[in-house]
Formats: sequence, C-alpha cells, structure tokens
Amino acid sequence: QHQGLVEKLDKVVRQYPDFPQKGILFRDVHPIMSDPAIRKELQDYYATQYQAQDIDVVVGLDSRGYYFGVPLADRLNVPFVPIRKGGKLPGATYKIEYAKEYGKDSLEIQIEAIKPGQRVVVLDDLLATGGTIGGACQLLEKVGAVIVACEFVIELVDLDGKKQIPQGVKYNSLLKY
Ligand code: PRP
Ligand code: ADE
Repeated sequence: QHQGLVEKLDKVVRQYPDFPQKGILFRDVHPIMSDPAIRKELQDYYATQYQAQDIDVVVGLDSRGYYFGVPLADRLNVPFVPIRKGGKLPGATYKIEYAKEYGKDSLEIQIEAIKPGQRVVVLDDLLATGGTIGGACQLLEKVGAVIVACEFVIELVDLDGKKQIPQGVKYNSLLKY
C-alpha cells in the first residue's frame, strides 16, 4: 500500500557515478529533503510503521540518518539519540571502528543517552556494505538497548549489508537497487 510512495522516492533519488571515489555509484537522498510533499509522505509512513511499536528512543546515524530520525522522534514524541562519527560527542561514550563502502570510520554513542532495556528504532538513509549499521548495532547492544528495527530509505542489495544486522533484528528498506 506504500507502493505510491516508493515510486515517488525512486523518481527523485539521483545517482552519481564515481562519487565520492571511482567505482562507487552514489545514490543521493537529498532531493527527498528538498521536496516538502514527498518528505512529509515519507515521515507519515515512518510514523505509521512505528506508532504502535512501543518505541522509547529513535536513533539516527550520522549524518543522513538524522534527516529521517528527528522527524520520526517528533511524531512519536520520544527522545532522539544520535550515533555520531568518532570524536564529536562529549562525556562518557562507547566507540567502535568500522569499514563502509568507501573507507574506514568510527562511531560513538553517549552512554547515558539510552537506558538498558529501552526499545529503539534505528534510521539511516542507505544500507550499503552494512559496516555502519553493524557498528551502530554493536554500540546499541553495549548500552543495553532493545533494537526493534533498522530502517533505511535505500538498500544496495548486491552489497548484502543485511548480514551485518544482528540475528533476529528486523530491517526494512523502501528502495532496493
Ligand atoms: C553513508 C550512508 C550510511 C553509510 C552506508 O554515510 O549515509 O550511513 O554510508 O554505508 P555502509 O553500509 O557501507 O556502511 P557516510 O559515512 O558517507 O556519512 P554521511 O551520512 O555523513 O554522508
Ligand atoms: N553510502 C555508502 N555507499 C553509498 C552509496 N553508494 N550511495 C550513497 N551513500 C552511500
């Protein structure tokens, strides 16, 4: 029933060969953000998916995951917690190194931001190799979160990133390329 939304998203998402480096086909979600009607339809879709799932915290991944995570946290009236690239968050944190489609990086979470047993949904714009979501899930397990689902606008199916999502954790993507 969300097929109309998927078609609209597919029309606006653009692809750029050899960005940010040679051999990468970059899928750009920013046109979704610049179209208020499509953006709102996507936000409404996420709210519908998660409003009855007893979500305590919405988690967004640095940085494009924030575009979708903050509006969902607003709709659900729950905290938004960022998982940031390493070195950006003050105070007590957990940190993890990981590899993604175009290079290595690190991710960090503030330990106090989530209490053990809290139910979280994780949002990011895109699932590629799964390095990012895999690292994020490890951090969430360290703070004792219950990961209800991982949600992506786009999934690059051939890269098989879903294998990095912990066993038994649900994941969804709208556009599959
Ligand atoms: C991109 C994208 C995902 C990740 C996916 O983020 O937004 O978070 O890569 O790749 P993977 O599945 O191979 O790990 P990037 O690190 O480029 O940061 P940005 O969101 O700040 O642009
Ligand atoms: N993040 C990792 N791989 C990507 C791709 N191909 N397009 C956009 N973002 C990405």
